[in-house]
Amino acid sequence: MGKILEVIELGNPILRKVSKKVKSIDSKDVQKLIDDLITTTIHTKGVGLAAPQVSHLLRIFIMYSRPNPRYPKAPLMKHPTEVINPQVHDYSDEIEEGWEGCLSIPGIRGLVPRHKSIKISYFDRKKINLTRNYSGFIARIFQHELDHLNGIVFLDRIKNTKNIITEKEYLKLFTK
Ligand code: NI
Repeated sequence: MGKILEVIELGNPILRKVSKKVKSIDSKDVQKLIDDLITTTIHTKGVGLAAPQVSHLLRIFIMYSRPNPRYPKAPLMKHPTEVINPQVHDYSDEIEEGWEGCLSIPGIRGLVPRHKSIKISYFDRKKINLTRNYSGFIARIFQHELDHLNGIVFLDRIKNTKNIITEKEYLKLFTK
């Protein structure tokens, strides 16, 4: 089991840097970082967490969508998925707006436009190259986390500051 790492927040310059490709997926350090990222995702009730959010500028993130108090309507993924060196191959022209939050921007939610579906590939921790089609909320998580690897946060993509609300008001709106 990994350990819980500190999640850095907006204002920390690390969040604005571009992460580097992982060269040796099977190295002890990378495998340990993946364990720690998964443990931290579970502990913080996140649906995704990217390595730069725990101060490691490597192209790795975790996706672990499941309904929880932060995202009551999230679809259920059975296991956390580690995504290493992700690549986008195709995306739908269709754009969909949806609410997002971020462990690095606590207390805030924003309505963010994203591609409705995407075709991507990545390596898992066993160095297997996987190709997947994602749509809806999972595609949204993927795009949000990929942005972190490029120094982008969801606030950068919001078209109108009126589409930024607090988590308290968000939960009132969407948990009825
Ligand atoms: Ni985030």
